[in-house]
Amino acid sequence: MTASPLFLSVTAAAFWLLLTGGFAAASSLPGVPDGCNTRCHKSKVREAFVHGPVGSDDCISCHNPTGLEHPKQRGAFRLVAEGAKLCSVCHEGKADKKVVHPPVAKGACLDCHDVHQSPYRMQLKADGAALCFGCHDEEKFKATHRHAPVAEGSCLGCHDPHQSDNRALLKGSGAGLCFICHDKKMAEGVSIHGPVAAGGCTDCHAPHGSPFYKILKNAFPEQFYLPYAQENFALCFDCHTKDLAQDKRTDTITGFRNGDRNLHNLHINKPDKGRSCKTCHDPHAALQPRLIKERIPGFGTWEIPIRYTKTDTGGTCVAGCHKPKSYDRLRAVRNP
Ligand code: HEC
Ligand code: HEC
Ligand code: HEC
Ligand code: HEC
Ligand code: HEC
Ligand code: HEC
Ligand code: HEC
Ligand code: HEC
Ligand code: HEC
Repeated sequence: MTASPLFLSVTAAAFWLLLTGGFAAASSLPGVPDGCNTRCHKSKVREAFVHGPVGSDDCISCHNPTGLEHPKQRGAFRLVAEGAKLCSVCHEGKADKKVVHPPVAKGACLDCHDVHQSPYRMQLKADGAALCFGCHDEEKFKATHRHAPVAEGSCLGCHDPHQSDNRALLKGSGAGLCFICHDKKMAEGVSIHGPVAAGGCTDCHAPHGSPFYKILKNAFPEQFYLPYAQENFALCFDCHTKDLAQDKRTDTITGFRNGDRNLHNLHINKPDKGRSCKTCHDPHAALQPRLIKERIPGFGTWEIPIRYTKTDTGGTCVAGCHKPKSYDRLRAVRNP
């Protein structure tokens, strides 16, 4: 993972180590007691993750004792700076990317980090998604089909907590975000689906989760064979004509026709074992034209190879399902 260059200032931290002589250093200004965190403020270094200067008893890098009598004057340790200004004493950088998380923009670092210590890494105030749900409505992330990283609370798999040059604080843009975890081979081939080529994975998938199979944004069947109903393929029909498989005869609706015989209708529109689009098409990309898969499901674990050749006015399909068959939109082919 790449740390946000904004907040990671190795040089500043190193400079600080030099100044204080490392983590063994104690506050040794006149009038300032040594061993704050071993004698009086043990509770400030109790948790698993203690902030560097707190652990090394360098309280005065943030608290200014000048002109005050501590511990006689209780609560008198002022801060050397307020808000994000205090942090920038050691963590240099500016919030200068296109999208800055609102709490970061207003310098409210302590909304998420405890300044002294915490049971959680990076002195965070809560773990995983719980930190985010302190401000964002958890209910919105409870879809029936949840994306695995959301279910696991890894919001940071996709979002930067501070800032980003991508919309919605994302760690990548377009399909690049998805390919942080998924194999980009799925988007390669002879034919690539329009929205996939454009990086529009979220045209079809809801990144957090959805009520539909495979976190899709609309209905699409899990099965390869099912009785035909238009609404089963609502996802595809969000962009393609709803009438694709409606009528037996057409001269316009689809290119998958022999003369005017609608071959989409023939394969899909059946009362019992109609085919799903994915019997023939890969929704992402394929090694044959028109998103036609190389193998389609057969019986059991056996897959039927399918060889598809496209012509200017039709095509030929050599598949285990039937004898080689051709179709032609202009001059209907009489298949054996
Ligand atoms: C990195 C800066 C920083 C360092 C180092 C630091 N503090 Fe603080 N401290 C703060 C800030 C900021 C607050 C105000 C916290 C708030 O508003 O939540 C604070 C508040 C406090 C408070 C009052 C509120 C509370 O949390 O109990 C005490 C006591 C305290 N610090 C003690 C210490 C001691 C002891 C050390 C050294 C062992 C130390 N601090 C080191 C930044 C720091
Ligand atoms: C006096 C210097 C100093 C100040 C002021 C300071 N820090 Fe730090 N901070 C450090 C050092 C040193 C480390 C340890 C760096 C390391 O371990 O690589 C650290 C570590 C951290 C880490 C954990 C990073 C990690 O990799 O574990 C966070 C988060 C952090 N600081 C947040 C803050 C915030 C928020 C503020 C302001 C409220 C702040 N710091 C103010 C010196 C400072
Ligand atoms: C919305 C919550 C949130 C706010 C607000 C926030 N942080 Fe963080 N910060 C995080 C989380 C979460 C991580 C852990 C990032 C990771 O694991 O990749 C982190 C990591 C860090 C780190 C260590 C890693 C790095 O990115 O360099 C530092 C230093 C840090 N924050 C400083 C700050 C400072 C300074 C501010 C205020 C300007 C601030 N943070 C505001 C949530 C927040
Ligand atoms: C202290 C409150 C707070 C915390 C904690 C917090 N956020 Fe936010 N976040 C906001 C606010 C306020 C907005 C702006 C209004 C909104 O979109 O809800 C925002 C907006 C966002 C946006 C939209 C940004 C945009 O420009 O489109 C994302 C993404 C986001 N937060 C992710 C996270 C993640 C991931 C976490 C946990 C690591 C988190 N937030 C924790 C307060 C918070
Ligand atoms: C797989 C990547 C991914 C994960 C994991 C993820 N998000 Fe997002 N998030 C996105 C994308 C992409 C968007 C932009 C949504 C869009 O297309 O408009 C987004 C948008 C947001 C927004 C802006 C408002 C909205 O809903 O559009 C918030 C807030 C947010 N996410 C919070 C979270 C929180 C909290 C978590 C963890 C529970 C989380 N995200 C996990 C990818 C992710
Ligand atoms: C942080 C890692 C991560 C990122 C980034 C990510 N995913 Fe995932 N995604 C997973 C994991 C883990 C699974 C579950 C295992 C699997 O199916 O590979 C998963 C599963 C899926 C599934 C199958 C869901 C199911 O119900 O079976 C889809 C669809 C998906 N991701 C789409 C996307 C899209 C679209 C993006 C980009 C917006 C994206 N993913 C970004 C980690 C990620
Ligand atoms: C046109 C709509 C559409 C677009 C755009 C799209 N997908 Fe999909 N995706 C689907 C459909 C439909 C399925 C379910 C396929 C099935 O049932 O076998 C799916 C399944 C998946 C799966 C699960 C695969 C499995 O075997 O479980 C992942 C992961 C995935 N898509 C990631 C992506 C990524 C990454 C992108 C962008 C590069 C993307 N999708 C773009 C429609 C789309
Ligand atoms: C977000 C819009 C969108 C969705 C949803 C969508 N498509 Fe597409 N589809 C397109 C675009 C854009 C093209 C390219 C059109 C062109 O080139 O003229 C296309 C083209 C196609 C092609 C022709 C590919 C080629 O190489 O010529 C097929 C086949 C296809 N889509 C099948 C599907 C299937 C099956 C579904 C449902 C799983 C679906 N589409 C869902 C937008 C979409
Ligand atoms: C039996 C295999 C098969 C099935 C099942 C199938 N198609 Fe097709 N589809 C094709 C072939 C072959 C073509 C190429 C037609 C041509 O251009 O010659 C095609 C072309 C397309 C096109 C490009 C425009 C057109 O109509 O010519 C779209 C869009 C499309 N199919 C969507 C779908 C959708 C949506 C489904 C499911 C509802 C589906 N297909 C089911 C074989 C199939």
